[in-house]
Amino acid sequence: MSHIFYTWSAQRHAHPLTVDAAEGARFHTREHGWLWDLESQTYNVNAGHGNKHIQERMIAQIRELPVAGPNMRIGVREQLTAVLAERTGLERAFLASGGAEAVENAIKIARLVTGRSKIVTRRRSYHGATLATLGIGGDPRRAPFAADLPPAIHIDDPYPVPAGEPSAWVQSLHEVVEREGPETIAAIVLEGFTGTNGMQHPPPDFWPAVRAVCDRHGILLVDDEIFSGFGRTGRWFAREHWGVKPDMMVLGKGLTSGYAPLSAVMVSAAVAAHFDDHKLWCGVTHYAHPVGCAAALGALEVYAEERLIERADQVGAVFAQRFQDMSQRPDLHGAVRDARGLGLMRCLELDRPAAPVAARLLERGAYVPYRDDLLFICPPLCITAEQAHIVADLIADAVAENSSSARA
Ligand SMILES: Cc1ncc(COP(=O)(O)O)c(C=O)c1O
Repeated sequence: MSHIFYTWSAQRHAHPLTVDAAEGARFHTREHGWLWDLESQTYNVNAGHGNKHIQERMIAQIRELPVAGPNMRIGVREQLTAVLAERTGLERAFLASGGAEAVENAIKIARLVTGRSKIVTRRRSYHGATLATLGIGGDPRRAPFAADLPPAIHIDDPYPVPAGEPSAWVQSLHEVVEREGPETIAAIVLEGFTGTNGMQHPPPDFWPAVRAVCDRHGILLVDDEIFSGFGRTGRWFAREHWGVKPDMMVLGKGLTSGYAPLSAVMVSAAVAAHFDDHKLWCGVTHYAHPVGCAAALGALEVYAEERLIERADQVGAVFAQRFQDMSQRPDLHGAVRDARGLGLMRCLELDRPAAPVAARLLERGAYVPYRDDLLFICPPLCITAEQAHIVADLIADAVAENSSSARA
């Protein structure tokens, strides 16, 4: 009898794997041996498992000073926030523990700064599982609570990629802003690149149009890079693919490579200046946790020194080519409908539910997350091109077997 809940499951149907080791892009389970980690645990172990440098940073911090109240000035906090400011081009950081907590604080900050209350997001978006973040997002995980959540304000999804100039997506954005009243909207919150809601590529006018609307109406643009940040898409942050500058960013997951809980709200100099004389009505007990800050500093050093961002771009291209080949293979009979993504944030859209393919892959040595007809391929960024080919072979075989068994 287990005493721990497993998330997002009826407990009777949860099938937890027993993990006893992890190294690089794989982890070891008692049930299936070594598995390629194509979920990077929860899309966060960007530096890979067992990274000694991050571990050493954390151990040193535990020895030196493992606890400090939120308003104590300590070296590791100052160092980390200086690096984050440089990497993001934003001025100041509010450091919380998890992604949803950061998004909640970003919402509070946007409301405090603008004096407005509404938050606009994409229809198919995920910004966390707390009530406030479920309230603004559009992910189906909000369903059991929807009746009691305030109505969410959503702009359409850019998928299928809308044609026309301006794209239908941009028209939807304008319609929503006009309908709600721009003077009531505090922020538009968008994932840098959307995650398990489909990894759809935005049309080229997506980000410039949002930036222009925000500038025109004094709305803050919040870039949620919790999933897509820290190299996952082959850039430090996904929004760099489109060259847009947000007013605020929310960071989590890869910030510490998952080695400790830590998240951040980064804000521009203009947003930060508001709080010079106005009270920042935000705070949490584990604010800027010293060990989390040390893990983040270690992770950021590893990304830069091991050139993992560049690697994500290069190895992502290997996967892209292999998946493209799969979508055209005659013997797969169109089983792969679409293959999309950026860097090592990729998905395959199948012509049927993805669960049986994921189950086959588990037997063959790969742990692949899935949802409906989508398989997600998001390994740690330390994966090599050679390993990517091994993984792509496994996936191709599993898709082939699944499609031939379904036709037999
Ligand atoms: C884009 C995005 N925002 C926010 C969150 C919430 O982060 P956390 O699960 O750490 O609360 C997630 C988690 O998957 C996410 O992908």
